[in-house]
Amino acid sequence: MSKVVFIGAGRMAQSIIAGLTKQSHWSIVVSNNGNVNRLEEIEKKYGVQTTDSWKEEIDDAAVIVLAMPPEAHDSVLKELALFIDKQLVITVAAGIGPSYLEEALPEQTPVAWLMPNTAASKGKSMTLCAKGTHVEQAHESMLAQILASIGTAEIVSEEQVHTLTPITGSAPAFVYQMADCLIQPAKEAGISEQQARKLVADMIAGAAAMLQSGDDPQRLIDQVATPGGVTAAGLDVLEQHDFNSIMKQVIKACHDRSNNEKSKKDW
Ligand SMILES: NC(=O)c1ccc[n+]([C@@H]2O[C@H](COP(=O)([O-])OP(=O)(O)OC[C@H]3O[C@@H](n4cnc5c(N)ncnc54)[C@H](OP(=O)(O)O)[C@@H]3O)[C@@H](O)[C@H]2O)c1
Repeated sequence: MSKVVFIGAGRMAQSIIAGLTKQSHWSIVVSNNGNVNRLEEIEKKYGVQTTDSWKEEIDDAAVIVLAMPPEAHDSVLKELALFIDKQLVITVAAGIGPSYLEEALPEQTPVAWLMPNTAASKGKSMTLCAKGTHVEQAHESMLAQILASIGTAEIVSEEQVHTLTPITGSAPAFVYQMADCLIQPAKEAGISEQQARKLVADMIAGAAAMLQSGDDPQRLIDQVATPGGVTAAGLDVLEQHDFNSIMKQVIKACHDRSNNEKSKKDW
């Protein structure tokens, strides 16, 4: 059994805990900022141990997962630095990259930064992961198990996590926006809201499965759209409104906001 200590017990922590309890070889201890009811619920729901004093749990832990807001990191890392001795420290917080963790923790501490998305709650997150400089083989395998507990992952550099977060973290919202636009006309065909949502969700899942087969999106578009046909008429409207340029602006807006936040918080 490897012991993992969670500091933070909210949505993201619980998504990972739900996944790890299925892997059976983790001893899980969960702590938070004092919400006792939440810890009681977690104990009941996942059958894990909870504590109001995470400091007493660090000594024999293999992994510490920081699943709390970015702004809580400074003070928690200061305290954690006093207890840590080569345990793997992972954060899931926006903006808290490996270089930030390494700076705050004792030399040689293995660290990693995970950037999951909300689909982690269904075990379907596409998670970005940047490792610190002291992550060794044993840490890699624990990291891989934690990543697998919430979906799939790509190992990238710290800078790439910043650049790719709009694509993996924000873009699900753009897909939901499109879904919402399709649900309305679907209902106008006389089906229920529930049927309309299912139809659109299953369509998106099917399209995702086609993309996952690795085909070029343009080839997939050609398979759907015959020249001069029904789908081509719809694609023409997207082109007239410069859909590609709109999507570029959307991603740029995410980057601009993220850079702005970084400079404000001095991350
Ligand atoms: N939710 C997502 O889909 C998602 C996606 C990517 C990244 N993230 C990142 O994951 C982190 C957690 O997000 P979340 O959605 O799980 O938030 P959440 O549901 O609001 O939970 C936050 C948790 O952090 C705890 N906490 C706050 N300050 C603390 C402190 N000083 N010491 C110890 N625990 C503290 C809270 O304690 P109490 O229980 O006592 O209130 C709570 O359990 C954030 O950094 C967020 O950026 C989340």
